[in-house]
Amino acid sequence: MSIATEPNPLLKALIARLAAAAKLPQEQVAGLLRPPPKPDMGDYAIPCHALAKARGAKPDQVAIDLAAELALDPALKDIVAALEPAGAFLNVRVNGGALCAAILPRIAAAGAAYGGGAEGAGQTVVVDYSSPNIAKPFHTGHLMTTVLGASLVRIYRALGYRVVGVNHLGDWGTQCGYQFLAWQRADPQEREKQLAARGIDYLVDLYVGINAPAKELAELKEKLLDKNVALQPDCRKELETAIAALEPQVAETDRRARELFKQLEDGDAELRALWERMRVRTLEVLQLSYDRLGVKFESTDGEGFFEPFLKPMIAELKQKGVLVQSEGAWVIELAEPGAKKKAPPFIVVKSDGATKYETRDLAAAIYRKQTYDFAQNLYVVDVRQGFHFSGLFKALEKCGYPWAKDCRHVSYGLMQIKEGDATLPMTTRGGRMIPLSELLDRMVGIVRGIVDEKNPTLPSERKAAVAEAVGVGAIVFWIQARRRNSNIVFDWKEATNPDGDTGPYVQYTHARACSILRKHGASIPPNAQLALLAAPAEVQVVKALDEFPRVVRDAAREYEPSMLATWLVQTSRLFNDFYNSHQVLKAESEALRDARLALVDAVRTVLARGLALLGLGAPEEM
Ligand code: ARG
Repeated sequence: MSIATEPNPLLKALIARLAAAAKLPQEQVAGLLRPPPKPDMGDYAIPCHALAKARGAKPDQVAIDLAAELALDPALKDIVAALEPAGAFLNVRVNGGALCAAILPRIAAAGAAYGGGAEGAGQTVVVDYSSPNIAKPFHTGHLMTTVLGASLVRIYRALGYRVVGVNHLGDWGTQCGYQFLAWQRADPQEREKQLAARGIDYLVDLYVGINAPAKELAELKEKLLDKNVALQPDCRKELETAIAALEPQVAETDRRARELFKQLEDGDAELRALWERMRVRTLEVLQLSYDRLGVKFESTDGEGFFEPFLKPMIAELKQKGVLVQSEGAWVIELAEPGAKKKAPPFIVVKSDGATKYETRDLAAAIYRKQTYDFAQNLYVVDVRQGFHFSGLFKALEKCGYPWAKDCRHVSYGLMQIKEGDATLPMTTRGGRMIPLSELLDRMVGIVRGIVDEKNPTLPSERKAAVAEAVGVGAIVFWIQARRRNSNIVFDWKEATNPDGDTGPYVQYTHARACSILRKHGASIPPNAQLALLAAPAEVQVVKALDEFPRVVRDAAREYEPSMLATWLVQTSRLFNDFYNSHQVLKAESEALRDARLALVDAVRTVLARGLALLGLGAPEEM
């Protein structure tokens, strides 16, 4: 771990003197510095192996010599408190007060922009996230991509990138035909009402409902064919009769549904209008939950959007000779000559002539490059689609697109929800998936109960606002508190634990900082003597704040919002340690009080900023 991109002024001075003494470029020295293994060993450790050759001495001796030289450097007199050689390392303890005085003004000056930057200027990042299907319930996996994707959008934006968030809705395929058919069979008034109120949840119901006979048929057939069960003759007869009765009905539904989808593909205006209406309404209803999560997309071009692009793309790839025929299908060969394991081909057109999810993703990637000229094209999609994306990226490479290397699958693990002793994929009630909105409502309801109890005098509107921010925040933080590829179990109770590694814990800490400043009332004097902040608990907090810009960049580079979540919890712990061991408003002197107020103000600023990057609100009062 190297020190932040933009070192604070004290560190800059230290690096400059070290570089001069070691006769190395400053960037190299900056890259060498690291925190020692234990905090009581100092603030920075310099590994002297790298310096040994240039100085013609053993690393241990270099550490000793360097310590002696630097001790005499007048420029370091007020900065460095101790220089301790430890084997091949030189440990440096800086003057805590000087460090605080170097760091806090930068935070005050940057305010809510602290931690951001402009290094992304002129570069575009596309983030494909959320992207639910209109025939399957919005499940915990979709909640995860929505939360993680939105954070990546905010983090990259904070670093100056142009970010295009895309909701690649799964709105194309035979399921559309099934939904049309179910729609035609439904009561005209009722269906309008349902679509308006429930959007995607209604479309899923339509799909599940019309597929129920097919599902039943499959189950009956399975029973009949089960070799492990010896069926009584009359039982077998009963099964056969039931199957015979269902089969024609199921076949007819399938035929009609496929016909309708074909009509849609062929451009039937009425069906296209119905499709568009279903899609728009789906997005409108989803947006109500997206709003609560602070999510807004720049594009909602889903799978159906790419339909018109497919034919020309297929023709072009055939002409280029990349798309070849294999067992009736049109594929892009991915097998490398001489490779031990033969990679299966990327199927673009099935043998029956139909296109696929893969086909639309190929077209979408090409479209995104042409439209946005991305530097990075990210897909925040669950880990089970790893095979699909590695195939897609290899296929793009085979098509001759050098930007294939800029595409990346940002995968994540599975999330289950704890219900009593069971864990479920998205809470189900009587076999039904609970919609996202209800999931959020439930958590907000739990938090409202806590707020009512803990802060009964808060006006009811404020209570509602706090419950919303903390309830939604509890879920959002839980998802991001662990590395994205780990499997997680959401625990309703633990997620709101005000002392746990939770969103509410960080939010409470932020509200505590706000409350101290509120009690003080007057504004913080601009020229507080920050060097008075020399107690270890104070210096630890300020050092953590100094790390924040680096953490934002690490999170961006590794597509890992959890790094920010971890930082938020750790910094909150350090701040609470400070608060529990030091008086702020009743500090030993007014000057010290003012310096501590500046520290509290910086904590407030940076915690709010970190929470915002992860999509959480930061109420000032809870
Ligand atoms: N709709 C897909 C699903 O729910 C995810 C789509 C992800 N994005 C993409 N371009 N393939 O599994």
